[in-house]
Amino acid sequence: MHNGTSLTQFIIEEQRHVAGATGDFTSLLNDVVTACKVISNMVNHGALVGVLGSADTENVQGETQKKMDVLSNEVFIKSNEWAGHLGAMASEEMDEIYPIPRQYPRGKYLLTFDPLDGSSNIDVNVSVGTIFSILRCPGGGQEATERDFLQAGTQQVAAGYALYGPSTMIVLTTGKGVNGFTLDQNIGEFILTHPKMTIPADTREFAINASNMRFWEPPVRRYVQECLDGKEGPRGDDFNMRWIASMVAEVHRILTRGGIFMYPMDSKMKEKGQGGKLRLLYEANPMSFIVEQAGGGSITGTERILELQPESLHQRVPVILGSKNEVERILGYHQPA
Ligand code: AHG
Ligand code: MN
Ligand code: MN
Repeated sequence: MHNGTSLTQFIIEEQRHVAGATGDFTSLLNDVVTACKVISNMVNHGALVGVLGSADTENVQGETQKKMDVLSNEVFIKSNEWAGHLGAMASEEMDEIYPIPRQYPRGKYLLTFDPLDGSSNIDVNVSVGTIFSILRCPGGGQEATERDFLQAGTQQVAAGYALYGPSTMIVLTTGKGVNGFTLDQNIGEFILTHPKMTIPADTREFAINASNMRFWEPPVRRYVQECLDGKEGPRGDDFNMRWIASMVAEVHRILTRGGIFMYPMDSKMKEKGQGGKLRLLYEANPMSFIVEQAGGGSITGTERILELQPESLHQRVPVILGSKNEVERILGYHQPA
């Protein structure tokens, strides 16, 4: 049995160091954690409770929704709308922002989330996750609008993800490093198991969907080719490759043993007028915050993701993140010669 620090205890103790903290934020985080427990339970039971398969609907980005996309979105809303900490929420699965209904008090924070990340993996019983980000609402949250969500990633108050893998984990940052907690199913609590997670600066492992290779831009082609060339190539070393197609699982591997993850810009997206694959507000920004807090880097190719000024709620961006020295190398490859 693990008799360590629970996530609840951890965030209450963190709150004690913040002058003027009202407990609002702690309580909001608790509700987010509860939502993740409920989703974890549904994911774990899978076919037994009829949650696998397609919902036969499309989200705002034209992707077919899985039943679990829709259900986990509902869980997040129900868990977080009632307590009075939020002005509004925004999610991958909702076209518009979700202002807190009038029957509930409104609060000063905004919550964005990808309720089920990697949902193409749900039916094949491979790891999926949830990504979330907490922002302060500029006007205090009483009449939150979409514009209030368009804040650079550097403004995030907290970001985290839940990973529904062989064990369920929550990895969290409030801007003071990154900590990982594992769900003890018997007591229903997340326990601090991975304190102060850091990403090794160097790696010999990369993750990219190589089926898009013919569409990549020259700097990414060059980087991947050099990895593939191995010992005989310019890097003078052999590289390993992984692609899970769940960003949460990918980032978790990188936080655990280093690596680089890329969903870069490509000509196919450009043709469609798309800025990238992954969404800035509820995928790229929270993951970049976590990765930077763990000592890694996160860029579009040419720019630091956390400094981008968002232009719309569902904006997409290219993402290259992970071990610092590799991210810097790729940034260098994007500089004009
Ligand atoms: P989501 O399931 O929330 O739509 O996100 C899936 C994302 C990300 O998690 C993953 O890295 C990537 O899309 C996989 O894309 P491909 O299917 O193109 O490999
Ligand atoms: Mn996602
Ligand atoms: Mn999703």
